[in-house]
Formats: sequence, C-alpha cells, structure tokens
Amino acid sequence: MIWSTLLAVVCAAFGDGVAALKNPIIRGWNPDPHVLRVDDTYYIAVSSFNVYPGVPIYKSKNLTDWELVSHAINRPEQVPLYGSRTNNGIWAPSLSYIAGTFYMTTMAMWGSDPNARTWPRIFWVASKDLISWSDPIWADPYGIDPHIFRDPATSKDYLTLMGLNNGYDQIWGISQCQVNLKSGKCVGPYRRVWNGTLPVTASVRPEGPKLFLKDGYYYLLIAEGGTGATHRASIARSNSPEGPWEASPTNPLIFNGANTTLTIGNTGHATFTDTPDGKWFATFLAKRYVGKDSPLGRETFFAPVTWEDGWPTMNRGKPLLISQSFDYAPDQQWPPPPFEDTFEGSELAPHWYQLRTPYTQNYRLIEGGGVVLVPNVFTLSDRDTPAAILRKQKSVNMTFTASLLSSQKPVNAWESIGISAYQSESNHQDIGLRGCANSTSLCGFAASTITGPGPGVRANTTEIPLNFPSVPADFQLHIKSEPKLYKLGYSTGNATVNWVKEFKPDVLPSGFDGAMFALYASGNSLPWEWDGAEVGFERVKEVYGEEYYEDFISS
Ligand SMILES: *[C@@H]1O[C@H](CO)[C@@H](O)[C@H](O)[C@H]1NC(C)=O
Ligand SMILES: *[C@@H]1O[C@H](CO)[C@@H](O)[C@H](O)[C@H]1NC(C)=O
Ligand SMILES: *[C@@H]1O[C@H](CO)[C@@H](O)[C@H](O)[C@H]1NC(C)=O
Ligand SMILES: *[C@@H]1O[C@H](CO)[C@@H](O)[C@H](O)[C@H]1NC(C)=O
Ligand SMILES: *[C@@H]1O[C@H](CO)[C@@H](O)[C@H](O)[C@H]1NC(C)=O
Ligand SMILES: *[C@@H]1O[C@H](CO)[C@@H](O)[C@H](O)[C@H]1NC(C)=O
Ligand SMILES: *[C@@H]1O[C@H](CO)[C@@H](O)[C@H](O)[C@H]1NC(C)=O
Repeated sequence: MIWSTLLAVVCAAFGDGVAALKNPIIRGWNPDPHVLRVDDTYYIAVSSFNVYPGVPIYKSKNLTDWELVSHAINRPEQVPLYGSRTNNGIWAPSLSYIAGTFYMTTMAMWGSDPNARTWPRIFWVASKDLISWSDPIWADPYGIDPHIFRDPATSKDYLTLMGLNNGYDQIWGISQCQVNLKSGKCVGPYRRVWNGTLPVTASVRPEGPKLFLKDGYYYLLIAEGGTGATHRASIARSNSPEGPWEASPTNPLIFNGANTTLTIGNTGHATFTDTPDGKWFATFLAKRYVGKDSPLGRETFFAPVTWEDGWPTMNRGKPLLISQSFDYAPDQQWPPPPFEDTFEGSELAPHWYQLRTPYTQNYRLIEGGGVVLVPNVFTLSDRDTPAAILRKQKSVNMTFTASLLSSQKPVNAWESIGISAYQSESNHQDIGLRGCANSTSLCGFAASTITGPGPGVRANTTEIPLNFPSVPADFQLHIKSEPKLYKLGYSTGNATVNWVKEFKPDVLPSGFDGAMFALYASGNSLPWEWDGAEVGFERVKEVYGEEYYEDFISS
C-alpha cells in the first residue's frame, strides 16, 4: 500500500506517460481564463458573453478538478444584458486579490450599431467570499480586457486595458491609468503604455493585458494577432508598472498559428501564476479542432512556464500538442461517469444558464424533483430571453437525454417544448413536441435555424404526426454528438430512439462562445395559454464517450 502510493507519487512527479495533467483543463466553452492563486487555492474566471449568471469562477487545489463555485454576475440588476447581440455581453474577466478582497474586472458590450458608435463599458465588482458580489463600479475609460493590479511597492492601483489612442485614428493599444477602486476614476494620466510586438495599424489589437511582479521586474503579458488562428501571447518587462516596456526575446510565448493542421488552434490570452512550491504555469484559451470545426468553442488550456534571465517561455517555446501532459498534477479521467440532474432541491445547479438577463422568472423547481418552465412569447431564435436553461457541451462524443414531465392538458398549436443544440439565436437545431398545426393534439417537430447561405437566417421545421393528446409519461428527447455528426431523436419508455434528423457541426459555428444543450418551452410569439398545460423536464442525463484526438487534424 505504502509502496504503491509512493510509486504513484514518484511517477506523477516525473510525468512521462503516467498520470499527468492533460488539456483542456476546463472543457466546453470557457474562454479568456484568468487564473489567480490565493494561498493553496487556484481560481479561474472566464468570459460568459450572453449567458446568465455571468462570469463563472472555478476553483481547484490540485489543477486537475475545477469546481464551478460561483458567478460574479449573479443578480439580474448588476448588469442587464437586454437584447445583446451574439458574441457581445460580458467578455474577458480578470481577477485581482487586494487586501483580502477579490475584484473581478471586465467589460460589457450590448451591441454594435451601423448608425451609432457603441463601445465596451469597463467595470469591476468586488467580493470577500466570491459568493456575494457588489454592484458594478463603472470605470472612466472604455475599452477591452481590463485588469487591476496593485503595486505591492507603492500600494497604487493600476487599471490596464486595450484602449484607443484617440477617437479619430482609433488605433487600439495597451492603455493604463492609476485608478481609484471605489470611484472607478483615473487618478493619474491615462496613457498608451505599449503597442505590443506587431506593426501598429488601425486593425491591430494588442489585448488582454495582465500585470504582475516577479523578482523585481514588472511584467505586462498580452494577447495579440487577432482572435483567430494567429492569436498568441506576448510579454514585456519593466522596472516600473508604468513602463517603459521592453519586449521579451522569447515572444511569441505561445503560438499555434504557423501550422493550421494542429488540433489545438487559436492559442492565446494567457495569465501566469506560480504554485506554492515555485513552479510557474499559464492558463489561456484555445480551440480543439475536428476537421475545420470546433463546435465546443474556446476552452481553458494549461502550459508550463519556465524562466531564463528574467524572461519566460511557455511550453518550452513550442506549439502545444494535444498529446502533451504535464507533471504539475494528476490527469483528469476521461470519460468521466455520466452526469445526471433530477432537479431536486430549491435551486438550479450552477452549470445551467439562461440567455442574456432574465427579467421574469422563467422556471421553477418542483417538489420531488423536476423543472417546470414558465414559457413566454420568445423563442430560441429571438434576441431575447426565452424560457430556456442551457448547459455547455463538454465533448464532441457524448449524448444528452432529457425526460419530459408528463402533462394533463393539451397544448395549443405552435406552443412547443423541446431541446436544442444551440450556438446562438441564428444557429440552433431543435427537437421536441408542439401543438400540431392542424389538429388539437401534440406533434413531434424538428427545427433547424441556420445563418445563410446568403443574408439572414433560415428556419426549417418538420412536423412529425405523433398525435399525443398531451405530453405522455416517459417521453425522452435526445441529442447525440459524434465528432463529425449530430443527431436529434425521441423515444418513449425503454424503446429505441427514433433519430429524426442529423446535421454536421458546421451549422453550429462557434463564435466567441461555443455549443450548449438547451431545455426550452415557448409560446412561439404568443403568450402561453393562460390556463394551459404545465410543461417541463424530469431529468437530464449526459453520457460521455472516449475521445481520440491526434496532434494534427486529418481532413
Ligand atoms: C482534486 O481535488 C478535488 C477536490 O478536493 C478532489 O475531489 C479530487 O479527487 C482531486 N483530484 C485528484 C486527481 O486528486
Ligand atoms: C504606439 O504607436 C504609435 C504610432 O506608431 C506611436 O505614436 C506611440 O508612441 C506608440 N506608443 C508606445 C507606448 O510605444
Ligand atoms: C504542419 O504539420 C504537418 C504534420 O507534421 C505537416 O505535414 C505540414 O507540412 C505542416 N504544415 C506547415 C504549413 O508547416
Ligand atoms: C396545415 O394546413 C394547411 C392548410 O391546409 C397546410 O397548408 C399546411 O401545410 C398544414 N401544416 C402542416 C404542418 O401540416
Ligand atoms: C427542410 O428539411 C427537410 C427535411 O429535413 C428537407 O427535406 C428540406 O430540404 C429542408 N428545406 C430547406 C429549405 O432547407
Ligand atoms: C426500463 O428499463 C428499466 C431497467 O431495465 C426498468 O427498470 C424499467 O421498468 C423499464 N421501463 C419501462 C417503461 O419499461
Ligand atoms: C465515442 O465513444 C464511444 C464510447 O466510449 C467509443 O466507443 C467510440 O469509439 C467513440 N467515438 C469516437 C469517434 O471517438
């Protein structure tokens, strides 16, 4: 017993093919991770774009298992995202721990408008315990990817972000001011401090600045090269948190963009931290590609950081391969046991999200288990908040099964209850039951909402004449995701699944976020019948399969 434990520890310490940390460390869309260590605990905050609650915070002591502990935006009135556009909402959080208080600094973007200028608004919220968060403090500057750093030498607080040089040229770069954490006001000059390492043009985007202090040098770590294949991390150092900044000879620190057949792509937006025993590592975002698709979107990745002459290197300066593992922690077992939610208790588990910001109560949990949806006029195709709860898709090889609550009453024509493989209001694939178009019974339906080809969104619905008088007991809806194909189906009891529709992952194109699986009900533009059927779900089960990724994608 002792020997085998010792052997396991020795093997873990030396890595080589034995249990060691693998990528990604947080699955499903979890982009722009900011890692922070406080004592023996690591925290990671990630972007949430258009979902509520916003800005998930994960916690781990061993780097292997990341528990979703809270959300920094957990009251609708903190930052209402009404009608916010796809890829907008809340982006790129950073975490700071200052005098016993956590600060989560980020920006909110409601939407771009061809006729007016709209800009991301910078704010932060504070918490002592990560559970209860303050109202936002809105900052003076606008821009992207803000970070607050308190200089331990002077106790001055710096707000660093991607900002404009001026409103006329509109050239983005890394800008900074000393800031008052209580008022959000700059208390020193607001200045451009670094342009990054790429040629300075109107389209360049040096973003994601993070400041830290190590062995007497201040470091400014940024993302640049755009958010696509040529995304990367770069760093500079200085004797002062205000610069001037000297770029590292080791830049770019992580760059998978030279070979677009790598399975891991779009690497960038890094933060660094050290372990209690003095090793360094980075977390950053990347995509896992299957062919040219990556429906899961940008996930949270890990790479070791090593130092030489005061300059860091990530992953020893090499592109990151999916086969690599790192002797910082034991590996994550995949596939994990199935996930099941029977909706017991008084609150929805934290990994369920709503779209944008709910302004009405869209669900309720019931005695004995189950979630009843409170449908409204909106659908998943509206830029609004339908009665829907969604979970991030974690693997390209998994199934998602939802069992409906039976109902006593019929539902009106077009009123629907279903599940969806959802990417955005313009890209989702649904299956469910709805009031038949031409009779008073319930029909099955499969619906497809896709962008293009050509302008606008096309929706296509197929009705399946099941002719149920009401939602039957033991009725299930299924989504099966294979690496290159999704299938939608339904079943009753233990009967085999009727697969009614399949589609390729390219109809769920990941933007800044990634695919989710939704439970929803909708009046489809009309209020749900005021005394109509109560509809909802009894349980959800996800079953995960093996994943076989090679370092390079085959076509
Ligand atoms: C990591 O920590 C979590 C929470 O303490 C624990 O449940 C899990 O088993 C640990 N994982 C490993 C691989 O030690
Ligand atoms: C950034 O680039 C602009 C345009 O070339 C230049 O005027 C400015 O001095 C640069 N700023 C820094 C901090 O290097
Ligand atoms: C990318 O790597 C693959 C596998 O090693 C190789 O066949 C291909 O030539 C490389 N492409 C580029 C552009 O370097
Ligand atoms: C309902 O009936 C109308 C009129 O006959 C017909 O055009 C339509 O296709 C029917 N809808 C469905 C879904 O069967
Ligand atoms: C709608 O879906 C049906 C069944 O999958 C298919 O035969 C038809 O071509 C689709 N129509 C459009 C416009 O995409
Ligand atoms: C389905 O199968 C399970 C396990 O075999 C069994 O307990 C259950 O009674 C079956 N349900 C139906 C409706 O046949
Ligand atoms: C999906 O998972 C199943 C179950 O683990 C496995 O048998 C199958 O090979 C996997 N498929 C792919 C394409 O990875």
